Amino acid sequence: MDRKEFLKLSCGLCGISLIGSSVLLESCKKTNAVNAAPQGPTVNFTLNLGQPANAALNTAGGSVASNGVIVVCTTVTSYYAIAQACTHAGCSISFDKTGNDFVCPCHGATFDTNGNVTSGPANAPLKKYTVTRNGNILTVAG
Ligand code: FES
Repeated sequence: MDRKEFLKLSCGLCGISLIGSSVLLESCKKTNAVNAAPQGPTVNFTLNLGQPANAALNTAGGSVASNGVIVVCTTVTSYYAIAQACTHAGCSISFDKTGNDFVCPCHGATFDTNGNVTSGPANAPLKKYTVTRNGNILTVAG
C-alpha cells in the first residue's frame, strides 16, 4: 500500500467513524427523552394523622412514605402524593423540602411536585395520586 492509498483508506475510516458517532449520540438523545407514561403502583390506602408515624403530615413541608408512595403536606389542609420508586432503576426517592422537589439518591435524578423528570437519568415521570382528607384520615388513591 502506497502513501496515497493509505490516506484514502484512513479518511474513509474516519468518515465512517464520524457517522457512527453521530448515530450513537442521536440514540442517546432519544433515550433521555421524557415522553413515557407516569410510573407507580396502583394504591388505595389511608393514613391517620393522629398517629405518631404520620405526625409529619400535620406540618407544611412534612412528608411520609407509605405503600410505595410519598405523601407531602403543602398546607395544613392540602396534600399531594407521588410514587416513591425512581423510574430509572427503582431506588427510593425522597422529598427535598428545601428544593420542593424529589431527589433520587442512586444516580441523582430529580422530579418536580407533579412527578415530572427535571433531571435525568430517569426518563419517565412518577405517578401522582389523589389525596383526600376527611377529619384526621387521609385517603391516597390512584
Ligand atoms: S435509580 Fe434513580 S436515578 Fe438511577
